[in-house]
Amino acid sequence: MAFYRRLGEVPPKRHTQFRRPDGGLYAEELMGEEGFTSDSSLLYHRHIPSALTDVRAWDVPDSALTPNVPLKPRHLRLHDLFHDEEHKALDCVTGRRLVLGNADVRISYAVSSQPSPYYRNAIGDECVFVEAGTAEVETIFGVLAVGPGDYVLLPRATTHRWVPTGAEPLRTYVVEANSHIAPPKRYLSRYGQLLEQAPYCERDLRGPAESLLADGAEVEVHVKHRGADGITGSIHVSAHHPFDVVGWDGCLYPYAFNVADFEPITGRVHQPPPVHQVFEGENFVICNFVPRKVDYHPLAVPVPYYHSNVDSDEVMFYVRGNYEARRGSGIGPGSLSLHPGGHSHGPQPGAVEQALGVDYFDELAVMIDTFRPLSLGEGGLACDDGVYARSWFRG
Ligand SMILES: [Fe+2]
Repeated sequence: MAFYRRLGEVPPKRHTQFRRPDGGLYAEELMGEEGFTSDSSLLYHRHIPSALTDVRAWDVPDSALTPNVPLKPRHLRLHDLFHDEEHKALDCVTGRRLVLGNADVRISYAVSSQPSPYYRNAIGDECVFVEAGTAEVETIFGVLAVGPGDYVLLPRATTHRWVPTGAEPLRTYVVEANSHIAPPKRYLSRYGQLLEQAPYCERDLRGPAESLLADGAEVEVHVKHRGADGITGSIHVSAHHPFDVVGWDGCLYPYAFNVADFEPITGRVHQPPPVHQVFEGENFVICNFVPRKVDYHPLAVPVPYYHSNVDSDEVMFYVRGNYEARRGSGIGPGSLSLHPGGHSHGPQPGAVEQALGVDYFDELAVMIDTFRPLSLGEGGLACDDGVYARSWFRG
């Protein structure tokens, strides 16, 4: 994220002596991407951030993947993954159930009410979409207050925790990348400013509003990282509380963006999916279908043509409204559809005719297209409706 921010106290000149009130030096940390050649921030800690008193293993949630073989489009009912009161004992990090994944990205879902442990994903950036509920995301950069419709972007290795607030369970749709997640390059100037034709701009992005300082010793931080057999975990016991940053500045930090601030790009005839794109990572994109006026040519067909996305698997998470192209398929809020490469898909029978003359779609869905095939996680296997593949057939 190229937009410069500063929060709290920082010295006037980088890499110079910056002293605490007691005369000791703050510990300067550079957190940077791509080997010191891309975005970075400088953080000023009260204590040495490297100080560990213990390290032990953490059994991460089941990350096994089962190939989508034989190849099938699927309807996964994410709301069936968590039952009634189950959320009361779960948190948004350790309670995640893996739905889909490949070598580039993993998609999980969680319903939770408990604060998460302190957590750091050292594998890649996370983009967490808040379907429902509210939370404070406490990070070493400060606090983000988040709620329904927010994408929460957490750069790789950002120490943070999720603290649900309010009475409603926190429903989170989690995208864990093996890379960084950022606005589409085509919407950025050569220096990284969001361009005039982008569907959102810097004013729509919320950074941490206030610093977060906490005292404590022997604080456990759950670290997800690469291991010999794929994803693995460790618990680092930090000598001092990791939330000890008195100030930071730079272009790398967590932020939130609400989907309601995405200004849809519309046209006289059907617009292709890239107009709905909001973020991208390596080998995948994130798009959103927001409530919008639709195609206004007098003979327009507002729902999509049948499409064979030959280079990607398509994952739609249906958040709100009645998704017009899926009418009659059983899909509704809380559903996820997987349309894999190698199968041509489009509107369910009758959906085209029903959409003719309609000028507004009141629908909200988040789409992820991956350029490598997706396999099913244990959560995906557990909530597959088993019949979606035949939903276009009227025999
Ligand atoms: Fe599609």
